Amino acid sequence: MPQTTRRTFLQSSAAIAAGAGSLSGLSRIASAQAANKNGEIGIGVIGVGGRGNALAQGFDSAEGANVVAVADPDASRAGKAAEQYKAKAYADMRELLEDPNVDAVAIATCNHWHCLAAIWAMEAGKDVYVEKPLSHSQWEGRQVVNAARKYKKIVQLGTQQRSDPMQAEVKKFLHEDQALGKVLYAQANRLGPRGSIGKRETPLPIPQEIDYDTWLGPAQDEPLYRNSFHYDWHWDWNTGSGEMGNWGVHVLDDVRNVAYQDSVTTPKRILSCGGRVAWNDAGDSPNVHYVYFDTGSFPTIIALSNLNKSPEKRGGWDSKANRPMTGPGSGYVVACEGGYYLGQRGSGKAVDKDGKEIRKFKGGDINGLHKKNFIEAIKSRDHSHLNAEVETGHDSTGWCNLANVASRVGGAFDGQVAGSIAPDFEPWHMLLEDMRTNLKPFGITINSGEIKMSPILTHNPETELFEGDHAFGANELLKRKYRKGYEVPEIS
Ligand SMILES: NC(=O)c1ccc[n+]([C@@H]2O[C@H](COP(=O)([O-])OP(=O)(O)OC[C@H]3O[C@@H](n4cnc5c(N)ncnc54)[C@H](O)[C@@H]3O)[C@@H](O)[C@H]2O)c1
Repeated sequence: MPQTTRRTFLQSSAAIAAGAGSLSGLSRIASAQAANKNGEIGIGVIGVGGRGNALAQGFDSAEGANVVAVADPDASRAGKAAEQYKAKAYADMRELLEDPNVDAVAIATCNHWHCLAAIWAMEAGKDVYVEKPLSHSQWEGRQVVNAARKYKKIVQLGTQQRSDPMQAEVKKFLHEDQALGKVLYAQANRLGPRGSIGKRETPLPIPQEIDYDTWLGPAQDEPLYRNSFHYDWHWDWNTGSGEMGNWGVHVLDDVRNVAYQDSVTTPKRILSCGGRVAWNDAGDSPNVHYVYFDTGSFPTIIALSNLNKSPEKRGGWDSKANRPMTGPGSGYVVACEGGYYLGQRGSGKAVDKDGKEIRKFKGGDINGLHKKNFIEAIKSRDHSHLNAEVETGHDSTGWCNLANVASRVGGAFDGQVAGSIAPDFEPWHMLLEDMRTNLKPFGITINSGEIKMSPILTHNPETELFEGDHAFGANELLKRKYRKGYEVPEIS
């Protein structure tokens, strides 16, 4: 981990002082608290936006843990969080990582920072809870897995559904009891509307309270044309992973867990279809993204859309535009010979062939349980006890990274190729038909040029590389270009 230079320390302190006002007072309270840990695990929260605050609250109230420090290059956010959790505030995470009271970190930065922050933390001797998606590009996720093994650290991904006791019941029902017979395919959905992020004519001025060099870290320094600085980094490939790496990772992780019981690491062939349509804004990532994943076992398809029903009518897209059964707006279906299982966050139900509900499942306190699982694994020093261990998280994140690569190498829609990946698999053809139907109110047709389609990409889960005809361009996107001084190291 590069040491904090005097320059960055001074910048950080100045920035925090500007935003947080009475920081020295806060630090004093925090030191007293941190020194008096009563044997609890001291947590440093890195990134205290929406999610970081939720994690801080959860860890602060969890048995056996205590938030002792926060870091955020937004001085105002760092100051507020430090006050709320009576913790030390840092602008630069490298200072937090030098703090001996920090035993473990919870990383809730923008996605482009997740891997470097996790590796720096492990190098500094800390265990890591890192938010989803694990990585911003697939290569760097593997380096985090390698670091976890090399430094013998406990690393949990923030895919909290993995800690829902309901999942074990569902897996028993589907696989051990074979209650619905053989699994035929899985479909995941995230049909949740969002809005345009704007398109400014002049670059967005960086808010005064942000230490921008630290915020940027591994990302390229490019002008921003969106309206808001925070959160909308999700839709810029330089910093985010689109909806596929946002909600997609949750629903696809559920599919990997419940439908495949983790027997599939990453897919073998991928075809992606979609685009960023209707908004004409400064975002890059698709707001409509439909993907076919060939796993070598049964297939998975996913439908993501951030559009409303129509320009006039609010509400998410219809997941069953052309079919009776395709699952919830946010969740997944495991289609089986004898019916289907429909899973959502917090609940699930099984339906037989005649459409009769035959069993209901109820979820638990996934956020609390996921943190508890992390704390217990830190105490036992056994990473195999983690519900979302980093390698599991790397594989689930991989589905999203690969789908995003496919989207980025996409060209014109080609119906023949779209059909040829799975000629006899009706649900995929119907899914594309759903996309057509749902796009209609926006005056967009699948052939209009706004909807891009990837070639069929072949991926080797062993080497974690694309192979074959279209491999070159796709492989280029498996590792990002790092800004100088913020390179993710190769770890073996
Ligand atoms: N598991 C879940 O259910 C869940 C829910 C929401 C968000 N998330 C994940 O949490 C992460 C954060 O999302 P958010 O909604 O809070 O975004 P956000 O934009 O509100 O917050 C991100 C914060 O990270 C800070 N940051 C940037 N660079 C940093 C650095 N070098 N050091 C410390 N802080 C830095 C930003 O200044 C900002 O305050 C994302 O990766 C997201 O995918 C997970």
